[in-house]
Amino acid sequence: MSSVEIYIQENAKNFEEQLFHFLRIPSVSTDSKHKGDVKKAAQFLIDQLSEIGLDKVTMHETDGHPIITAEKCPHEDRPTVLIYGHYDVQPSDPDELWKTPPFEPTVKEGRVYARGASDDKGQSFTHVKAIEAYMKTGTDLPVNVKFILEGEEEIGSPNLIPFIQANKELLKCDMVLISDTAMFGEDQPSITYGLRGLAYMEVHVTGPNRDLHSGVFGGAVENPANALAEIIAKLKDENGVIQIPGFYDDVEPMTVEMREAYKKLPFDEVGYKKDLNLKTVHGEKGYSTLERASARPSLDVNGLWSGYQGEGAKTVLPAKAGAKISMRLVPDQEPKKISKLFTDYVKSLAPDTLTVEVEEHHGGYPVVIDLNFYGLKAAAKAFEEVYNKDVLFAREGGSIPIVADFKKVLGVNSILMGFGQTKDALHSPNESFSLKDFHRGIQTSAKFFELLPEYSG
Ligand code: BES
Ligand code: MN
Ligand code: MN
Repeated sequence: MSSVEIYIQENAKNFEEQLFHFLRIPSVSTDSKHKGDVKKAAQFLIDQLSEIGLDKVTMHETDGHPIITAEKCPHEDRPTVLIYGHYDVQPSDPDELWKTPPFEPTVKEGRVYARGASDDKGQSFTHVKAIEAYMKTGTDLPVNVKFILEGEEEIGSPNLIPFIQANKELLKCDMVLISDTAMFGEDQPSITYGLRGLAYMEVHVTGPNRDLHSGVFGGAVENPANALAEIIAKLKDENGVIQIPGFYDDVEPMTVEMREAYKKLPFDEVGYKKDLNLKTVHGEKGYSTLERASARPSLDVNGLWSGYQGEGAKTVLPAKAGAKISMRLVPDQEPKKISKLFTDYVKSLAPDTLTVEVEEHHGGYPVVIDLNFYGLKAAAKAFEEVYNKDVLFAREGGSIPIVADFKKVLGVNSILMGFGQTKDALHSPNESFSLKDFHRGIQTSAKFFELLPEYSG
């Protein structure tokens, strides 16, 4: 064993303790009352990166939450890896559904339960510890490394995109390394080579100037909740095909090869249904579950409100109704263009008895990474050495909007080296992360840096 490997093994418990400390900080980016906590998480990372001995460790203030950069670039003639991660987390609500408190990391059966355990504190921390192992053992870093860690991923990275534009020289690199995705199954090392994009919208329907008695006015005044339901019902047809005119115009069709590659993946649909307690799967006719959830676009209501929600019954004709609706995009759909098509279509469906307004939230471009990229090959080899199993390459349905910008602005590919699992319950109550994968993640990261120079030739 190399001294790096020994260091990682001997410090396993310390690394866990440090991760738990990180997980105790409720760095919820969307909630302004946690602004101080997001800053605390940023400071935790600054302390970590400084303690390890990286150069130029900097906290960049933004209009929102800070961006952290640091680097160690000892070799002019070797590749530079930019490590990206996010230290912000989703809100923990509904809190009553957590079996243990969301910000009190609790270990059960080899998994740590806490908000952010997998997404993305546990996963991104693996790289910090891998670099630490090189630095603390005085082992020459085989490549140059830079870090960029943000606190706004869960709210669409509004400040990171302009930051990258403005700091191209600081962030100059040959590839980006990201651990913020899932593996294809337990003990199944996987590299994600595609992510979907996003267009997130909000619809407001307004009717009478106040909530009305539904007996006095019902039948004579248009009900905004009924109207909104009708609009939503027209967004997809019975075959799961999205009805927005022009929506599919830029969708790259799946080739025979792509579909063959999907068929080869060892997907367990029975287990999938069982895990989610589903009678049957659902989606666009003519496509498999995996295709529907990663290679095809989708449209979902994320929130819906109107009228009386309390206990019992209240006979009311509500004055307002609203919905949050998002669409997942695939190459070559453009979020701005899709948002515009959505807005035009929803407005065209609006009855003239009501006002319908459409608001645009964040978006993000989809990405597919070229499988011939040498960085992916080095990552696959590193995974195989640590997990003793062949790597699978799969596309995923979630979004990490900044990946497309890394390509567009910095001109580099990203390696999505995920250590998570579908069962980690990202964004849900009782999020967790396998500690075994936390440790194997650190080893895989260290191995990747060791192997990369051989592949860059
Ligand atoms: N880590 C996830 C994205 C992800 C999860 C990718 C699982 C692949 C597999 C990320 O933190 C996330 O939640 N992204 C948001 C994007 C957003 C808020 C703009 C998403 O996908 O909803
Ligand atoms: Mn994430
Ligand atoms: Mn997330």
